[in-house]
Amino acid sequence: MGEIITITSGKGGVGKSTTVANIATAMAQEGKKVIAIDFDIGLRNLDMLLGLENRIVYDVVDVMEGNCNLSQAVINDKNTKGLFFLPASQTKDKNILNVEKIEKLLNELKGIYDYILVDSPAGIESGFEHSVYLADRALVVTTPEVSAVRDADRVIGIIDAKSLKAKNGEEVEKHVIINRLKPELVERGDMLAIDDVLQILSLPLIGVVPDDEKVVSATNRGEPVVLNKESRSGEAYRRIAKRVMGEEVEFMDLNEKKSLGKLLKGLFR
Ligand SMILES: Nc1ncnc2c1ncn2[C@@H]1O[C@H](COP(=O)(O)OP(=O)(O)O)[C@@H](O)[C@H]1O
Ligand SMILES: [Mg+2]
Repeated sequence: MGEIITITSGKGGVGKSTTVANIATAMAQEGKKVIAIDFDIGLRNLDMLLGLENRIVYDVVDVMEGNCNLSQAVINDKNTKGLFFLPASQTKDKNILNVEKIEKLLNELKGIYDYILVDSPAGIESGFEHSVYLADRALVVTTPEVSAVRDADRVIGIIDAKSLKAKNGEEVEKHVIINRLKPELVERGDMLAIDDVLQILSLPLIGVVPDDEKVVSATNRGEPVVLNKESRSGEAYRRIAKRVMGEEVEFMDLNEKKSLGKLLKGLFR
């Protein structure tokens, strides 16, 4: 049976879709059968991150409404074998998702894929509750900014109150991903440190992704940054994917640049 992992956040624009595209790609590269679903109705962009926007004919709402069958709507990824994609609908009606239909669809997907990664709307958007309702697990993405962390905290409360697991007296396993960390700003005291974020959220950390302009160029090319073996952010996402799959992987040293700088200074002194 596949596992449903919802990637969510309190605020928009913190990197949920980027996380889904990269973790899904990394898992498929490890030989898993993975589907990424865009539940961010009306705001779809996961298709662009995967470079699949031109291939969309049907979307997730078409499947749920019976306008097409699942295999008509599912798109094979261009870059990675074993990765599949189900696009969001462009409808303006954010309340179009209905719990029974979502449940039917996700249960069908569980029988086919190892991992079902759900790109959820931000916690403030309608449609959010639907995307966490059936989650086996949630990855809460935040940037190290007070407002983002505070909104993430609110979302954690909603997952604990409104998910099916919560209704059955169980808990959805939750982890934090801190995205766009800038070690030099943390050093100067101008950015929340990892510990500060974890203290507020009181959840275990599953990874930290550095702020990296390679993410932006990768996005523009429609090729997730994990495909770039040289990138630090790609390496961070690869490690997160492995941790999600149950492997123990060391955390990256994000201060590498700084320590290299120190070393060089020492040499030239
Ligand atoms: N680690 C990162 N470094 C630099 N830019 C990033 C990083 N993660 C995300 N971004 C950029 O931030 C913006 C929002 O990311 P996105 O994944 O679309 O967020 P969300 O899905 O939460 O709205 C995008 O322009 C994306 O390229
Ligand atoms: Mg998004």
